[in-house]
This record gives sequence, C-alpha cells and structure tokens, in this order.
Amino acid sequence: MRKRVTAFGPGRVNLIGEHTDYNDGLALPFAISDGVTVGAVRREDHRISVTATDLDAEDCFAIDSEPEAIQGWRGFARGIAAELRRAGVELPGAELEITGTVPRGSGLSSSAALEVALCLAMLALGEADRRPDRIELAKLCSRVENEWVGAHTGLLDQLASLCGEPGVALLIDFQSLQVSEVKLELGDYSLVTLDSGQRHANAPRSGGSDATDGYNRRREECARAAELLGVASLRDATADAARRLPAPLGARVGHVISENIRVQDTAAALSAGDLPRVGELLNASHASLRDDYEISTPAVEATVQRLLDAGAIGARIVGGGFGGHVLGLLAPGARAPEDAIEVRPGPGASLIDDAPQSG
Ligand code: GLA
Repeated sequence: MRKRVTAFGPGRVNLIGEHTDYNDGLALPFAISDGVTVGAVRREDHRISVTATDLDAEDCFAIDSEPEAIQGWRGFARGIAAELRRAGVELPGAELEITGTVPRGSGLSSSAALEVALCLAMLALGEADRRPDRIELAKLCSRVENEWVGAHTGLLDQLASLCGEPGVALLIDFQSLQVSEVKLELGDYSLVTLDSGQRHANAPRSGGSDATDGYNRRREECARAAELLGVASLRDATADAARRLPAPLGARVGHVISENIRVQDTAAALSAGDLPRVGELLNASHASLRDDYEISTPAVEATVQRLLDAGAIGARIVGGGFGGHVLGLLAPGARAPEDAIEVRPGPGASLIDDAPQSG
C-alpha cells in the first residue's frame, strides 16, 4: 500500500485592499471555488517527481539537492520542498501531480493556490511531527514566491487561500497578521469576475518596463517612499507628508493610505448590509489604482466598462495589475456578460482524501 493524499488550494478574489499587503496595510479577500489540486503518492527513494498535467511538463529532483535557481513552474515544488526542510520538516519521496482550474496570470492567484496545495500535500504525505501553523505556512509559501520565483509579492494570496471560509471575507491586518471574518451577505446582488484577456506576471520578464516588471517596481517605489518619509512601513505614512514626496511616489503613497481606509469602510458597509456603498468603494479603489498606482491597462479599462455597462454598481481590477481579471458587483436584476464567472467565498485549503492505494 502506498500512501496517497490529495490537497486542494483555492485561488482568491480580493474584494478590496490592493497593493496594501506589502505595506503593512489592510485587505479584504476571500477564497474561491477554483484552485489547484495536488495528488501525492509516497515513493521510497529520496526523490520528488512532479507532473504538471495542464502544462504537459515534468520535473524530478532529489529532496536533499542543493537549492538552485530554476526558472518557471519548476521553482514552486522545488522551493516548497526546500523551504519545508529548512523549517525542520522531514519530507519523504513523492510523486506529485498538479492540476488546476485557475487560469495562470489571471489575477486570481494561481501561484498561491499551487504553493499552498503543494505544501499541504507534502506535509500530509510525511509523518512530520512538526506542523507549521497557517501563518507560518503562508510566510513559507511567500518566501518561495519571493526567492524562488522572483515575484516580490506579499502575504495576501497565501493567507486568503489558507484561511478562507464559506460565506465570509477575511479582514487581514498585515501589520499584526490578525485575520478576522466579515460576513459577505450579498442578497440579490452578485460578484463576478471578467477576464481582461491580458495575462500578467508578477515575476519579472525581460524588458525592464512596467509591462514586464510593474509589480516589483511598485514595491520598490513604496520602499523608497517609506525610507524618504522615515517610517517603518507606509502604514505609518500620513497624507500630508505624502504630498511632499516627488512624483510618482506621492501618488503611490496616496493610494496606499486611501485604500486602507476603503477596506475599513467596506467592512463597515458589509456589516450594515449597505451594498450600494460597497459598489462606490470598489469604483473608488479602481480609480486610485488606475490614476495613482498606475497599474491599469486599456484592456482592463475596457473590461471595467463592460461590467459597468452590464449593470455593475462597482468594478475594479484585482491582483497585481497590468492585466488579469476585473471584479464587478452586480445590482439585482443585472445580467452579467456571458463570459463572466460568478464568485463567492469558499473554504480555504485542505486535504481532500487520503485513501491508501495498492501497488
Ligand atoms: C498580487 C500579490 C499580492 C498582492 C496583490 C496586490 O496578487 O501576490 O501579494 O500584493 O498582488 O494587492
């Protein structure tokens, strides 16, 4: 009997709170039903083989191989294995098979879904007595993204994927790492995402422009602004001080400050059942991301407009920017475009089964 486990990591939609996570700010994401599934079967040698079914690609490496920079999807399994070992977890040999339903580069967090599912599968396959908690796992997955994949992303996607619960959005404070639940009761309203058709990558590609490295550039701008303001993070920045910064840093900080306030206002509006107010806040978030943070594109703008034309009372770009999906809050009776996907909060990452397999 070879031990077999299956783990699922969901993608996420961020209701509001964009580009705040790496600034010690606030966000309000939820896990969705689409995600990545990793099937794992134990093997008796000290190797991990990986099949990425959707990519029709394979990889195989020794568990104790020295970490080396590997381009592309192979960095994920290699990175998770190395980081788990670094965290003191004993890993057995494994055959891993990855399948997913979140389109890559769509702004719905396919990378975090993959990292989280790999992590849970590898942990469950071993008999590790050391089980990192969810916050520790989120940090570990994020290190893989930062150091192995080259995207200097924050903790938003991993925490949403790991901590999601049906029916709620997660109010995350990235300074304290406190996660609290806010009921997402939509009544006759609905939330949909619509693909802009433009793929994006948070990790740099060659070129050295916003289109190829926009995410990491924004992160650097925020770090520079915090340095000039003499604050530990932009959570402590004030709007007055931000106005004295050179362009474009003042506008970037302005976005972060106003977005944190919008997250709090959205949580309050949801608690009061005031969905029209949530719609206004989504529109204000998008305007700030477009004008102050400058991460929108013509394809994204056209997609926002399609949602508004279809009766959305709020629409905004989600995720790292420069493409991906747009989120819309549809009023009762509005007809979503045919290619829109309805999203609602689903459960966070978990094991699906662990039936033993003969052979
Ligand atoms: C990507 C990153 C997150 C977060 C968002 C923007 O999804 O992975 O850490 O920074 O962009 O809010």
